[in-house]
Amino acid sequence: MEPVSTSKVAIVGAGSVGATLAYATLIQGLAREVALYDIDAAKVRAEVLDLRQGLQFMPTATVEGSDDIAVCAGADLIAVTAGAKQQPGQSRLDLAASTTGMLRRLMPGLVEVAPEAIIVMVTNPVDVITYAAQQLTGLPAERLFGSGTVLDSSRLRGLIATRCDVAVQNVHAYIVGEHGDSELPLWSTATVGAVPVTELTTAEERDAMAHEVVNAAYEIIRGKGATNYAIGVAASRVIEAVLRDERRVLPVSTRIDELHGITDVCLSMPTIVGVEGAGRRLDVPLSDAELTGLRASADSIRETARGLGF
Ligand code: LAC
Repeated sequence: MEPVSTSKVAIVGAGSVGATLAYATLIQGLAREVALYDIDAAKVRAEVLDLRQGLQFMPTATVEGSDDIAVCAGADLIAVTAGAKQQPGQSRLDLAASTTGMLRRLMPGLVEVAPEAIIVMVTNPVDVITYAAQQLTGLPAERLFGSGTVLDSSRLRGLIATRCDVAVQNVHAYIVGEHGDSELPLWSTATVGAVPVTELTTAEERDAMAHEVVNAAYEIIRGKGATNYAIGVAASRVIEAVLRDERRVLPVSTRIDELHGITDVCLSMPTIVGVEGAGRRLDVPLSDAELTGLRASADSIRETARGLGF
């Protein structure tokens, strides 16, 4: 029996991702209080009412919401999902300009009302947004990080599990770098059980899986306008690791001060996540090709951030 949570989780943004994350947080019993904040008062009220009316079917919790940032007061963890939606064919990096403008207004207020909170950025482009939020708040790197490639890595693991006909829990594989077009799979360390994936699949199959992962969101966005379920549960997995101090290894987007010559950027590498937030990054061995891909991904993220003044 998991311990009943006493934590407060605040979710900024009552759009499809924020509402789904609130639902995932509640149904898993990750928080005793969930607060939704959105500048659209009618939307946030409607989402709160809808969630509240399901509470009898969920672990004990309360739900509140407001267009006043004070509703986030005292949160143990804040998840930021607010921002522009990716349009069909639009890349995540294309969203950066409009979203960083929103950040400049949002971040100081969040830190003021919840100075002790761990902040998890989910908003896209999440690596640029995480770096910008870091710069705007000056919070320690472990206290403010992004959902990164947790979702991408789960997409890849699902494909490998299907291809190898095993439980996804027995697949260890990471997508690293940008949560976006320049992300890359670490095939050299991917395993099924203790068997290298490179021994169980062909290069063509691996290329096809990597292509399917990097394009996964585009297909969904074309069909329904946005993704929300998978990112909602992926972000709730990050919340769970923090609030339950799981020390789970997750590829979250953190500030990179130095990694193989990569500096001054936020990107995803396998990191130990617990009550302190994003802790020690694991020293994952990289092939020459993987290191080249990681450096290119870092350059892509950094170029967008620099172009916006971060
Ligand atoms: C996706 C969004 C969250 O990959 O970027 O579904």
